[in-house]
Amino acid sequence: MSKLVWDDAFNIDVLDIDEKMKELFEGINRYLEYDSRRIKEEDYDEIGEVLADISEGIRQHFNHEEKLLIQYRYPEIAGHKKEHRRFVKKVLAFRRVFSEEPEKIYKDSVKYIQEWLLRHIQEDDMRYAPFIRVQKYLMEHNAQSRRGR
Ligand SMILES: [Fe+2]
Repeated sequence: MSKLVWDDAFNIDVLDIDEKMKELFEGINRYLEYDSRRIKEEDYDEIGEVLADISEGIRQHFNHEEKLLIQYRYPEIAGHKKEHRRFVKKVLAFRRVFSEEPEKIYKDSVKYIQEWLLRHIQEDDMRYAPFIRVQKYLMEHNAQSRRGR
């Protein structure tokens, strides 16, 4: 399975969100990398640590993004959060199975994580991006008007 490649079209234009997502891509790519190698029994400890790291990265990124959606009063936040929760649960389930039978779950988890994340960015994150841009513009514009400019 090929690596995740950042596309500038994924930018939300809120710098730290975009930077965090790029970091997450890097973490996930480290996880995907093993897929193209011959995995030995002893590699699974290391792969499990990478999975734990990305699961923490995913959690942090979602929290950060949800705060932003609250701050800008995104009307569809409930559905967006639900999507996040479902994914977090799925990744936790992967981690549980991974700790017992890594060879059984690794390939499926790679495919799922990669496909889910790309779909989520393209369908769900791209849905709020224009809203945030307009809200940001309005907030800045209103703040300037209040200062009498
Ligand atoms: Fe999201």
